[in-house]
Amino acid sequence: METFYVTTPIYYANSLPHLGHLYTMVVADTIARRKRQQGIKTYFLTGTDEHGINIERAAKRSGRTPQEQADYVVGYYKQMTAQFGLDTAHGGYDIFMRTTAPFHYQGVAEFWRRVAAAKTPKGNDALYKGHYEGWFCAACAAYKTEDEYVKAESAEGPPRCLIHETPLDSVSEESYFFRLSDYDEVLLALYNSRPDFVRPESRKNEVASFVRSGLQDLSVSRLRSSVSWGIPVPDDSSHTMYVWFDALTNYITAIGFGNEERQQAVGFEKFWPALHLVGKDILRFHAVYWPALLMAAGVEQPLGIVAHGMWLDPNGRKMSKTLGNTIELDVLGRHFSVDAIRYFCLRDMVFGQDGRFGYEGLIDRANSDLASGLGNLSSRTLTMIARYCAGRVPSGEIADDNLLQAKRTGIDTDETAIASFIEHARDEFLIYCDNFAFSRALEIIWSIIARADKMISDAKPWDLAKDENQLQTLGAVLYRAAETLRWLCVLLYPIMPGASQNIYRQLGMVGSLAAIDPAGLRWRGLAAGTQVGEIGPVFPRIDKNKTMDEIRSATATSGTHVTEADAVAGSLTAKENAPAPPLTGATEADAIVGVASFIEIGDFAKVDLRVGQVISAERIPKADKLLLLSIDIGEDKPRQVLAGIAQYYEAENLLGRKVVVVANLKPRKLRGYESQGMVVAASYGEEGRPVIATFTEDVPNGARLK
Ligand code: MSP
Repeated sequence: METFYVTTPIYYANSLPHLGHLYTMVVADTIARRKRQQGIKTYFLTGTDEHGINIERAAKRSGRTPQEQADYVVGYYKQMTAQFGLDTAHGGYDIFMRTTAPFHYQGVAEFWRRVAAAKTPKGNDALYKGHYEGWFCAACAAYKTEDEYVKAESAEGPPRCLIHETPLDSVSEESYFFRLSDYDEVLLALYNSRPDFVRPESRKNEVASFVRSGLQDLSVSRLRSSVSWGIPVPDDSSHTMYVWFDALTNYITAIGFGNEERQQAVGFEKFWPALHLVGKDILRFHAVYWPALLMAAGVEQPLGIVAHGMWLDPNGRKMSKTLGNTIELDVLGRHFSVDAIRYFCLRDMVFGQDGRFGYEGLIDRANSDLASGLGNLSSRTLTMIARYCAGRVPSGEIADDNLLQAKRTGIDTDETAIASFIEHARDEFLIYCDNFAFSRALEIIWSIIARADKMISDAKPWDLAKDENQLQTLGAVLYRAAETLRWLCVLLYPIMPGASQNIYRQLGMVGSLAAIDPAGLRWRGLAAGTQVGEIGPVFPRIDKNKTMDEIRSATATSGTHVTEADAVAGSLTAKENAPAPPLTGATEADAIVGVASFIEIGDFAKVDLRVGQVISAERIPKADKLLLLSIDIGEDKPRQVLAGIAQYYEAENLLGRKVVVVANLKPRKLRGYESQGMVVAASYGEEGRPVIATFTEDVPNGARLK
């Protein structure tokens, strides 16, 4: 029997899911449903990545043990997957994988041993013990090279991650290394020999050029004394495995690698290799590290790695919890149907590219494409069958005598035309779907809807019904519309399972769409005389103003873990509902400094803080983060100040803004520009989001802050 295995990344168990996580699951779920419709035995994995320093820290911050932290987040994920119809009960995933599962420990240990015993393609030991010296970003769970961080402003401070902007951890300790540097040629050969191995093509080129630029050996363990929350290295329990070594391996341990029980329950040989669906943010781990590790362990390569783009906010910033610009799933789920969300995600995001998410866009699409488009076609067709044909699908045949009259209404009396149009559209749709071009695929579907709508508007069934001589034409129009609807249900099922099944039922069809292969659809498969079911709205129209007001007031009070936690139906204790302590920076050391040390008033007086006003602001070419500001602080000339806020503030929005400037900071050069001071800003969250300090009352430039 043909089988298929699709995976999402397993998500970090340190924070709660948002739209970005939901998106990957929706795509994987769509792919899985499409395969299942084809009769292919499909296994769909999602889950959580539960080890590592970041989870350890998140647990500490919220007063939980790491295991409690993981359980807490998993509870939320499970609730979310059920709410959005992605769990097993709704025909979604087959396993919610957790890296704390005992069988996973067993499988990973086996994988490690295999790598440890392997030789590289260049004949060296694949694993060796050495010393790691460098910087590590806990949020990325990745070691960072010089081009992946920004140096600290002060000489002593740690550099900051370019992605998260959080301070990096300094690591200097004994470590096991995987000799990745020996795998460059074999990896390039792999990408060459299998053009579809990494998709889309543009991402493959990025990956290949990363490999060509030279690979460094990968530190794959930490001393247990530094990171204890992880899987022990076999035969050396003073080391904990690097979390990515453990996490990537989940894809094979889930189906039985290294564990007899899972092997019996699922079957490694039956399902491997998998198609890995990932965000482009973690492509390197999947397309470089993972294939090399698999080669070392002697395991077959994945079927492919498909990278999608990122959801950005309407201003083009990447969504993240700490920026407060994530789309909260409880808000989303309260205002929109699961199918509208799925449709929007797949239609609006050109797969592989980044997409901007705005609620207005979702409402517009839900109203125009779903309520006025598919929903309207369905309700008008079924209502007319109920009204003009006593609720039974007409035969749609036109006797020769009536052909001429029928032609006058504009309908194509040769039914093969519509049949071949829809068959051709179906074939195109399936090709696009199988190449992950969901947006294009949906355009095709909407061209089918447009054609059916036009046929109805041109033929005007409500007039035909008044003319005894046109009853066959009326029947032909309604049969074609109803048969088109049936096709649409089958085609759209993987994308909108609930709505498609609902329309299918209203059409009087029984059985599940989950097992109907669209390739087998034939025109006239809908039997004349079929009694239509109870007709009801599928996509109610959304009142844009009212919904936007509700969303605005909901998001004004949410965005914290408290409101999200509230949504986990009644399962939380008071402690879990308590607000998380403020995130003061990624390292534990930072937090301690904040509490323990005091300064004298004289120390504070050393800092010359002045009121200033932004006179001009502009971006600096090739520096994503920096704005070049000119600030009037009451001196003869404005000060030139560089501020690392470009990702959060548009230059033009700062003009005229009152700010606080550290006026006696030693000038320093950044990117060739001298910065003559510093703008004071709050910094919060793991990503250190800056919020510029300002005044609500009028205050002259140059006034001193005391
Ligand atoms: N734990 C690792 C993955 C290990 S897989 C062996 C990890 N976890 S994560 O929680 O950070 O999830 C990253 C994934 O979540 C992305 O690759 C993507 O699938 C999804 N997304 C998170 N934010 C996203 C957007 N803003 N937009 C789209 N998808 C996003 O990395």
